[in-house]
Amino acid sequence: MSSVSIDSARLWERLMALAEVGAYTDERTGLRGVNRLALTDADAQGRRLVKRWFQEAGLEVRVDRIGNVIGRREGSEPGLAPVMSGSHIDSVPTGGAFDGCLGVLGALEVVRSLNDAGLTTRHPLEIGFFTDEEGARFGTDMLGSGVLVGRLSLEEALAKADTDGVTVGDELRRHGFDGDAPALLDRPPAAFVEVHVEQGPVLAAEGVQLGVVTGVQAIAWREIVIGGKSAHAGTTPMALRRDAGLAAARIATFAHELAVSGRYGEHMRATIGRLELGPNRVNIVPNRAVMTVDLRNPDDAAMSAAELALEGFLETLRQELGVSIDCRVTAKTGAVVFDADVQDVIAQHAQHRGLSHQRILSGAGHDAQEFAAVCPTAMVFVPGLYDGISHNPREYSTNDACAAGVQVLADTLLELAC
Ligand code: GLV
Ligand code: MN
Ligand code: MN
Repeated sequence: MSSVSIDSARLWERLMALAEVGAYTDERTGLRGVNRLALTDADAQGRRLVKRWFQEAGLEVRVDRIGNVIGRREGSEPGLAPVMSGSHIDSVPTGGAFDGCLGVLGALEVVRSLNDAGLTTRHPLEIGFFTDEEGARFGTDMLGSGVLVGRLSLEEALAKADTDGVTVGDELRRHGFDGDAPALLDRPPAAFVEVHVEQGPVLAAEGVQLGVVTGVQAIAWREIVIGGKSAHAGTTPMALRRDAGLAAARIATFAHELAVSGRYGEHMRATIGRLELGPNRVNIVPNRAVMTVDLRNPDDAAMSAAELALEGFLETLRQELGVSIDCRVTAKTGAVVFDADVQDVIAQHAQHRGLSHQRILSGAGHDAQEFAAVCPTAMVFVPGLYDGISHNPREYSTNDACAAGVQVLADTLLELAC
């Protein structure tokens, strides 16, 4: 079977160039981070840059109605379903250079290596970046890939609004990324493979060079709006308060205890990532709180039980504190198991390249999990430094680690597409 060697310096150069788009300096640490929230001006600038790189690599590029950008490299049998790869280039506000970008630019490096080698695969190859994987602006993760595979409707996705009421549809139009290609795949790909930084401590702690990803844990996000009554902080007896801030604090500690209790397994996670109080003044009992709860669990049944416990607690709080509580599920995906055969292909290529590897479950959400619903899918993880920290400007992986992951991605895509 033919093979290609990827160019690690070229891959790194592109990763570092994209990291300059939306770059900022973290005040506390002096580190350089990336702030490219979905469909902001910075994200649009990144999109235009990577789209141009796709075109320069000879890809036939289409933009679909939810703003996914997909480049196609024709195969020798164009009628075959494409083998796909890709990820996202949007970031959280405190992002790094690798989350998502490695998957997009890694796939691009595979295409460029195939071009250099003059190799044509039997299946077409399609690589892409998918709109708002992070969900950090519009509240729902894997938005573009979720639409592409039919989990989310296009209308629903376009109508998602940020905290200022600006919608996905508004922003796609403003930036000219409201493409006319259908947002729903017309046929399942032959396979999907994504390379990504691990974003956790496991591979580095084990001293392992690559992760063969077995699946992704379940994710459930809620936005909770609490209504209380504003009142004077000095004169209002504690018993007469309807304190939205207190309710929010109680929910935060409940979620934490739920995660550490062990009742929902040892891997239950809970995060209150957003909390806003109104009127947010020192001497006023808060009349409003808006907060998010992010729950994760590898087991669907344990996740359901945890969600039920949270909902039950909200009902208790309503009664106990006399506050109103509106709770909306903004994102929900079940646990995903990746295709065993694709995992084996990845593992075999890691082996051939002399790279140590182990199976690993993903703690983070990924575009690949959406494709897993429609075609054989798996992922390659590369270790990060500093305990694999991510969603933080310290996120870092080495040139060698990224190159190893992208080389195995190339080998895997080539095998699946030939
Ligand atoms: C995506 O980064 C997630 O929240 O898992
Ligand atoms: Mn990511
Ligand atoms: Mn992320």
